[in-house]
Amino acid sequence: MAYLNDHYLKLKAGYLFPEIGRRVKAFTDGNPEAARRLIRCGIGDVTEPLPPAVIEALHRAVDEMAQRGSFRGYGPEQGYEFLRAAIARHDFRDKGLEIADDEIFVSDGSKCDCGNILDILGPQNKIAISDPVYPVYVDTNVMAGHTGAADETGAYAGLVYLPGTPANGFIPDPPVEAVDLIYLCSPNNPTGAAATRGQLSAWVDYARKHRAIILFDAAYEAYISDPAIPHSIYEIPGARECAIEFRSFSKNGGFTGLRCAFTVVPKSLLASTADGKFTPLHPLWHRRMSTKFNGVSYPVQRGAEALYSTEGQKQVRQLIDHYLGNAKVLLAGAKAAGLTVYGGVNAPYLWAQTPQGVTSWVAFDKILHQANVVITPGSGFGSKGEGYFRISAFNSRANAEEVARRLPALRW
Ligand code: MLT
Repeated sequence: MAYLNDHYLKLKAGYLFPEIGRRVKAFTDGNPEAARRLIRCGIGDVTEPLPPAVIEALHRAVDEMAQRGSFRGYGPEQGYEFLRAAIARHDFRDKGLEIADDEIFVSDGSKCDCGNILDILGPQNKIAISDPVYPVYVDTNVMAGHTGAADETGAYAGLVYLPGTPANGFIPDPPVEAVDLIYLCSPNNPTGAAATRGQLSAWVDYARKHRAIILFDAAYEAYISDPAIPHSIYEIPGARECAIEFRSFSKNGGFTGLRCAFTVVPKSLLASTADGKFTPLHPLWHRRMSTKFNGVSYPVQRGAEALYSTEGQKQVRQLIDHYLGNAKVLLAGAKAAGLTVYGGVNAPYLWAQTPQGVTSWVAFDKILHQANVVITPGSGFGSKGEGYFRISAFNSRANAEEVARRLPALRW
């Protein structure tokens, strides 16, 4: 007899975005006119083509693969040296942050890494997450058996939920109790909030005091427009001893379809064995990647490297400015609709409060049916997301402007 992983049966109906897709399909199948007018501001997927520097690098790499002399088979599981060196230099050392090339692990996505990192962390860890939260942090812990069952609000037994509210700017303070692993996402998905240096310092102090580890998701760091906001957790002194950072090329270089990201595991980061010996995590992650991963394809890594060229950097800036420009347009539209709205300044997401008494899914339906716009219901990100919805700024400018025109016409 074969047994399944019972923990999967604790998961809620479906991952949020497939569920949204199902509802949208059910609506548009019977409404061809609405289907034609439909504008998607739901999933945070990029819409603009890849930067020309990336396209050129991809073409060159494919041509290399076509010749016996320059063909490449398996690459290093941790990423090619050329890309690890470019990342460590441009994203960290040029900014005064001490990160070595071999502390960078290239992967096929931050979502994957956020889930996979649990392979090297013990099942006895007490885990803290913000609420609302990117659902992957919760679901991967449920799958790994780190939680009990969900209650009627969707909260899983065993997790420590830290509410993100307007009062704390959607960045929770460290709890009084001791936890072992903390997921922080800044700029935040879904709220668009960005943690200040003071807030991150409080978390680093907490983690060091409790010998906890911060899993810092910085997939949206390129969207930070306030110069006072840190782009990396390693800007906070002491973070090399208590934090792993996840970064992605999806949202800066438009790589959601190409797949390339990286995780920083400092060699100075230790965690305890079951019998209390503090041991580095770096060799464990190295071992995990060597065993379960064969690396990102060579052409894609060349494409990612091109993002760091002078031309590539300019083109990334144009992409970010485009999406942040959309966020500005959407922010104005949401305000004109009388909504209380957060985010959209240091992040490609707006976090809007539904009018009094309207639940997130009712708001989703109203906006879909009346405005033919897809948003993401806040309750899909946790119980504290109830009463909110997320608007993604990943779109064409024309679509962002059209959404901004349609929102004020909503009848709540
Ligand atoms: C989102 O919409 O939250 C993102 O697309 C999720 C992701 O990047 O995986």
